[in-house]
Amino acid sequence: MTKILVTYLSHTGNTKKIAQAIFEGLEGDKTIKSMDEAQEIEDYSLIFIGFPVHSHSVPYKIETFLKKIPQGKKIALFSTHGSLPGSHLAREALEYAAVISSKAKVLGTFSCRGKVSMAALEVLSKSPEHKAWSEMAPSSHTHPDEGDLEDAKSFARWVMTLSAQD
Ligand SMILES: Cc1cc2nc3c(=O)[nH]c(=O)nc-3n(C[C@H](O)[C@H](O)[C@H](O)COP(=O)(O)O)c2cc1C
Repeated sequence: MTKILVTYLSHTGNTKKIAQAIFEGLEGDKTIKSMDEAQEIEDYSLIFIGFPVHSHSVPYKIETFLKKIPQGKKIALFSTHGSLPGSHLAREALEYAAVISSKAKVLGTFSCRGKVSMAALEVLSKSPEHKAWSEMAPSSHTHPDEGDLEDAKSFARWVMTLSAQD
């Protein structure tokens, strides 16, 4: 039977909520662990890996984890971000994550918005690097919402179907 791991990095809880929804959407032999607890991955045949977009990219811890994934391991990637869905600002990090996991078999990707605290926004929006996404971010304050959690569950089920066909 497929052994599934859901692992995530989350500083303010948004990505963790999505990870929990993915976990709920899955059936079978499943485990959920934060990235810090999930260093032994050999036993798992499918791994969901989630992260918050930071500075248009993948947090360093996740980058290191993705680069170590063994050849051919089945994975699915998910992220949360403050910028508008579909904007290149939201897509780039997930695309980069897929590129650096190129030894793995990426079965799917999912992303949704996650609220950014007003205090963080006030600080970040002052730096040119963060200007573009932080201008979009205030409208993310209701996310992840119920719809995002439902979408995450559907994503989990879809990836499981793909994994079973593989
Ligand atoms: C230091 C920092 C950098 C961020 N950089 C980006 C960014 O480049 N693009 C973006 O869309 N959101 C950015 N965000 C917003 C987070 O990706 C978003 O709030 C995410 O949902 C946080 O997830 P978490 O609660 O799991 O930590 C940034 C947030 C912080 C604190």
